[in-house]
Amino acid sequence: MQTSLRGRDFISDLDFSKEEIDTVLDVAWDLKMKRALGIPHPILRDKVLAMIFFFSSTRTRGSFEAGMAQLGGHAAFIESRTTQISHGDTEREMGEIYGRYFDGIAIRHVDFGIGNRYLNYVAEASRAPVLNMQCEIYHPHQCLADLMTIMEKKGRDLRGKKIVVSWAYASSYLKPISVPQSLILQMPRFGMDVVLAHPPEFPLMPEIMDQAREMARKYHTGFEVMDDMQAACEDADVIYAKSWGPLLTTQDPEEGKRLQDQYKNWYVDEALLAKAKDDVIYMHPLPADRDIEVASAVLDGPNSVVFDEAENRLHAQKAVMALTMS
Ligand code: CP
Repeated sequence: MQTSLRGRDFISDLDFSKEEIDTVLDVAWDLKMKRALGIPHPILRDKVLAMIFFFSSTRTRGSFEAGMAQLGGHAAFIESRTTQISHGDTEREMGEIYGRYFDGIAIRHVDFGIGNRYLNYVAEASRAPVLNMQCEIYHPHQCLADLMTIMEKKGRDLRGKKIVVSWAYASSYLKPISVPQSLILQMPRFGMDVVLAHPPEFPLMPEIMDQAREMARKYHTGFEVMDDMQAACEDADVIYAKSWGPLLTTQDPEEGKRLQDQYKNWYVDEALLAKAKDDVIYMHPLPADRDIEVASAVLDGPNSVVFDEAENRLHAQKAVMALTMS
């Protein structure tokens, strides 16, 4: 068990070592058990987390806010448009000042080419740890909940298990690429063979691909990239299929939508699941475009673990907050 997380930022998935993530998971399961048993666990009594949102949220806001309350502290919801950020408060001011008011600063900022830099600049100026509630590059707390859920369903030793991280069609908006990027970085460290599938116009960032390949080499796991969702899902243990925008190909929303609309057949239905192992689990961070991105029969079906996955956001984040903010 690693006990060196107090005061640490968690912005990139790789900010914590594999052993430190193991510790986060151990603490998360302990806190999950305590909540199930109704045992109080006020580890962060009198501590306050600032939650600064530049983008909407259902799960992230709810789970961080509930988590802080369950840990005996408080979370302050701060919608960026209600602050003086647009009138001149820079990252330096936010880090210096909020780092003095609060015991942790959590930020969601997914604007392409802006969000991750914002988090890092705030972190440089802050004496309190900065936690990434999703930027345009990483969604590390989602990935912790995903890992926790996979281990609950498939066992803690995931060596030899195949996860398919696939693009899927959606019509609602051009979604960030942070979820698939976090998955391909983190899962090899826990022994999973990763197959990444996407149409050619929907690549992930080259530097993240390089890091993911490096993780796969280091941990002796498979790492394959395919442009065929159907073939990718053969014999899968985990199908994690979600939409993301062609953000490295175009920043123009209309051109992005035109590219996206070419691939309406990248759809998760029961026929796709039938290509995988009988006990395959279907995962999605939500929100999903129901019956566009994934069939209701799959989303609500016996292989879907999306609600356990959403619940684990709470436990995983409580563990990170308890370890970094205590
Ligand atoms: N999965 C996730 O981050 O959900 P929200 O966007 O609702 O927070």
